[in-house]
Amino acid sequence: MTQPITIAVPKGRVLKSLAARFARAGIAPEVLLEDDRRLVRTSHDGSVRFLLLKPDDVPTYVEYGAADLGVVGRDVLFEREYDLYVPLDLGIGRCTLSVCGLAGKPPSSEQLRPLRVATKFVNSATRYYLEQRRQVEIIYVQGSVELAPITGLADVIVDLVETGETLRQNGLEVFEHVADISSVVIANVAAFKLARQPIRDLLAVLAQP
Ligand code: PRP
Repeated sequence: MTQPITIAVPKGRVLKSLAARFARAGIAPEVLLEDDRRLVRTSHDGSVRFLLLKPDDVPTYVEYGAADLGVVGRDVLFEREYDLYVPLDLGIGRCTLSVCGLAGKPPSSEQLRPLRVATKFVNSATRYYLEQRRQVEIIYVQGSVELAPITGLADVIVDLVETGETLRQNGLEVFEHVADISSVVIANVAAFKLARQPIRDLLAVLAQP
């Protein structure tokens, strides 16, 4: 039997749409959706081995060749430089990276001190404000970032917005659009250059919307 293709996938909300996409390649969705703690899941026919990872770790596993392919949001790739190929945009996991703050209270441009921005996306936010030539103070937070403007830790946040529900429930709104995000397939450079037939076949199936 040929060697299985190893694919690094992110745990979390995109897994459901991803499982549907793999189902078309004959890979039963249960392998990704079963609610247990196994971090390695092999498809029933043994052709694909999935590694379930935190999204931020997916590119690392692919870059170093621990996985042949990976699926990750563009937000993760915007944050760091990786030596990888990005052969395919899956068009799932669509959301935006946005500047948000207290609803109806955008920060005044007259404010004398630099704008305080809380975010997990330090590099993307820094780049965005540099391009705009706006002086800001970036404050790194890992999650529940919506709390920053509520508590006065920061004036605004730069964060992912998908349905907008988290913003609504916390009395925040979008002020500025930073980038469109979607999930892409990434490939290890050597694995992609070798382009084994099973990898090519799988990419062709995943490419179908
Ligand atoms: C993300 C993001 C927002 C939320 C937006 O967090 O940081 O908090 O999703 O989604 P919505 O617009 O559909 O409400 P996630 O749920 O990934 O958890 P995190 O706080 O651990 O990053």
